Formats: sequence, structure tokens, C-alpha cells
Amino acid sequence: MSTSLPPSVAAHLPTGLLVGGRWRPARSGATFAVEDPATATTLFEVADADERDARDALDAAVEAAEPWRRTSPRRRADLLRAVYDVLTARAEDVAALVTAEGGKPLAESRAEVAYAADYVRWYGEQAVRLDGLARRAPAGTHHQLVLRHPVGPALLVAPWNFPVAMIARKVAPALAAGCTCVVKPAQLTPLTTAYVAELIRAELEARDLPAGVLNVVPSSSARRISEPLLADPRLRKLSFTGSTQVGATLLAAAAPHVLRTSMELGGNAPFLVFADADLDAAVEGAVQAKMRNSGQTCVAANRFLVHASVAEEFTARLTAAFDALVVGHGAEPGVTVGPLIERAAVERVADVVAEAADGGATVRTGGDPLRRSGYFFAPTVLAGVAPDARVVTEETFGPVAPVVTFDDDAEALRLANGTPFGLVAYAYTRDLARAMRLVEDVEAGMIGINRGMVSDATAPFGGVKTSGLGREGGEAGIEEYLEPVYVAL
Ligand code: SIN
Repeated sequence: MSTSLPPSVAAHLPTGLLVGGRWRPARSGATFAVEDPATATTLFEVADADERDARDALDAAVEAAEPWRRTSPRRRADLLRAVYDVLTARAEDVAALVTAEGGKPLAESRAEVAYAADYVRWYGEQAVRLDGLARRAPAGTHHQLVLRHPVGPALLVAPWNFPVAMIARKVAPALAAGCTCVVKPAQLTPLTTAYVAELIRAELEARDLPAGVLNVVPSSSARRISEPLLADPRLRKLSFTGSTQVGATLLAAAAPHVLRTSMELGGNAPFLVFADADLDAAVEGAVQAKMRNSGQTCVAANRFLVHASVAEEFTARLTAAFDALVVGHGAEPGVTVGPLIERAAVERVADVVAEAADGGATVRTGGDPLRRSGYFFAPTVLAGVAPDARVVTEETFGPVAPVVTFDDDAEALRLANGTPFGLVAYAYTRDLARAMRLVEDVEAGMIGINRGMVSDATAPFGGVKTSGLGREGGEAGIEEYLEPVYVAL
């Protein structure tokens, strides 16, 4: 049972499955444990859904699909506005949950709740602005009318690193578009989803809206949920955030029914620092781009590509900035860096760091797991890293900043694009022409120029190459849940 959660949260936290507007145990009666990664102790036991529960949830989503699709855009918008209000009013409770099960410092959790609420508010606003098209065909033979219909019941598979924002980024556009959904929260962080799902369920009930609009099936096996649902032709949409490897498997499973898919997959973000960069700003941006959620974001700067003439100065300043960070339990005052999510993550980060050091990199600070309970790794700066070291070529998902040097713009671009991933790139330069050349040539779905943070609920988030398909957020995010229907009149 919970030790670090406020009693007001712990007392009202559903730990079952939400199916058709009702919380209930898994059919098997099984549960699984959810840990606090900062203490490695169990917070709660949560219902462990299997294939039968997944089908029940889809049944409920299918039953609610027709009435929800016919619900007016204004009522859908009002629902989302009410959810925004209640999420904002309960922000402290939700942030406490995010910190308890995800480990991030409270200030970051509060920022995540605000980010999540922004998605809900934005898609509430978009629900009444689903414009179509009406025009005379160029040949003059008829009129073209384009309507936008909801794609239908959606399976939304969320990651553990942003347990409220990633749910909001999927559920809000789905509901705004008129789709019902089955949510599979991450096994490591299902508590925040449950708390927020209960807020939405209560709003649906209070407004006499269809109960099966939102269903939630936590499970210790993602496959037990995804396999039966992807094989069911009544499911019409899959949205997934997670690794490229799992995404590719899901895409294959989605192929037989030609399912609409949105895939937000892995990254390997370059963070470029040119000789003319404002180094104070670059270091501040580097800490932000690297250390948010202890480096466990798919937009985390994974490799620092720095012009040789400023590499030493940048590395020294980055090292000083990392040394000033305070590592600890995210709920403790003053802590700026929390734990990694699980033991395996610490082991993986330790491996790639040791391998880089063996390959000739210098550990300027950190370099090891911290000797304390929980899953902590010291903020680490590595200098003189070979461009083909695993810490550079693979997504580290940890608090490690490897610095690689370049000599000219062509080499910087070659290094930046030398990866199968293409989610985001960051660049610091005072030269606008150079920045615009990068914008043209860097292979990434998002680019931060003199900014260490691009995430914004009102902008299209997503990647190119193996980083994904489709976009979440902004005007584009709702398109993923809409089907254009062309009428020739
Ligand atoms: C992610 O890591 O998947 C999302 C991060 C963000 O939205 O900023």
C-alpha cells in the first residue's frame, strides 16, 4: 500500500479496470504491483487485465461508438472543458501520483499536469472547429463536399514516461473527434491514468453521456491487450507511443485490418552547438533538453555535437551545471533529478557509459549508478566520445550527455542525420542563415532553434524515418482520428 501519496489521493484511487463506466477487478482476479522507483517499494496492487477483459473493453467502446459519434460537437467540447477544469483543480493530486509512480521531481510533475491539461483544453476548442470543404470541381461538372467522420473505436497505448500528458494527448483528440477508446496504460505507471480516468468517467456520468466512451485496461502484458484487439475488425484505430521495435511489431499486427495507426516512436536527438552559439543559452538548453525526466523522454538530447573550437568550454560549463543538480526522491523539496524508472534501466545506462569509457571517452562527471535505494544514476557528462559509440548511436533514455566534436557545418549535418531516427533536433547558433539551412536539411519532424524544449500541446509532435507516423498535438493531432468523406454533388 501507498506510503508516499497524500491520503486524499490514496483513498480515492481506483485500482481496477474501467469498462463501460464501471470500475471492476480483472476477470481472473489477478493483480500486479506498481512501484515507487525512488524507493523500490510497492505503492499499490492494480487489476491485471487479460484478453477477456480487453474484449469486454472493446465491446463497451463499440456500444458507445454510435451515440458518441452522434453527440454534438458542442457537448463533446463542454465535456473536455469540464475535464480541463477538474484536472487543473486537482493538479496537486495528479502531480503527486506522477512523482510517486514515475519518479520525476514534483516541479516537473506539475509542469506535466499543466501540459496534459493544455491538450484537453486545446482539443475541447478544436471539437467545434472540424472544418470540411465545399467547392465546385475544377471541371465544373459537380460540387465537392468533404465531411469529417470519426474513424471509430480506438486503442490508445501509452508510455510510462509521461503518465498523464501522453494519455491526454491521445484521449482528448479521440473524444473531440467523436471516437470512443480503450486505453492501455503503461504497466509501470497505471495509477495516474486511473485517477484521471475516474475524473473523466464522473464527468461523463454527470452529463448523461455514453459510459463506454472511455475504457481503461491496465495489464502486466501489453500483448494480452493488443493482440485480441488488433485482430478484431471492430477496432478502427491504434495510437501507440513507445519504442520503434514494439511500434514495428504493432504495425505488422495492424496490417491485416488496414488499421489507421499513429506511431510516436524512438528518437536519437542531436543537440548541435556551433562556434557562434550563445554558450550560456546553449548550456541552459542542454540541461533542459537532456535532464527532463532524468533523460527519459523520446525528445531528450541524446548526443551533443559541438564545434571543436567551443567543445572544451561547452563541456566544462555543462559539467558544472550537472554538478549543481540535486538528485533524490522527487517528492523531496529542492530535488531536480529523480530516479530512472526501473532497475533494468540503470543497468542499461551503466553498460553504455562503461562501453564509451572503454572506447576512450573521458567521464567528466558522474558515470555510475548511485548507491542508495531506488533506481538512481548520476548525471553524467562524457567528453571525447567516438561517433560510433553505443551511447551516441542508441537512445540512452538516461541522464548521460556524450559530447562529440565536429569541424564544419557539413560534418555537423552528416553526424546529425547519421541515424535511422528523426524525431527532433536542437541547434544553437546566432546565424539565421545557418539556422535556416539546418531547418531545410536536418531529417527530423521537430527542430528547436536556440531552444531546449519544443513540446507544446498546440503544435504537431512527431517524427520522420523510424521515429514514427502521424502527429499528436496541434491541428494535426485530431486528423489522426478523423476520416475525410468526399461527397460528389
Ligand atoms: C515523449 O517522450 O514521448 C513525449 C515527450 C513530450 O511530449 O515532450
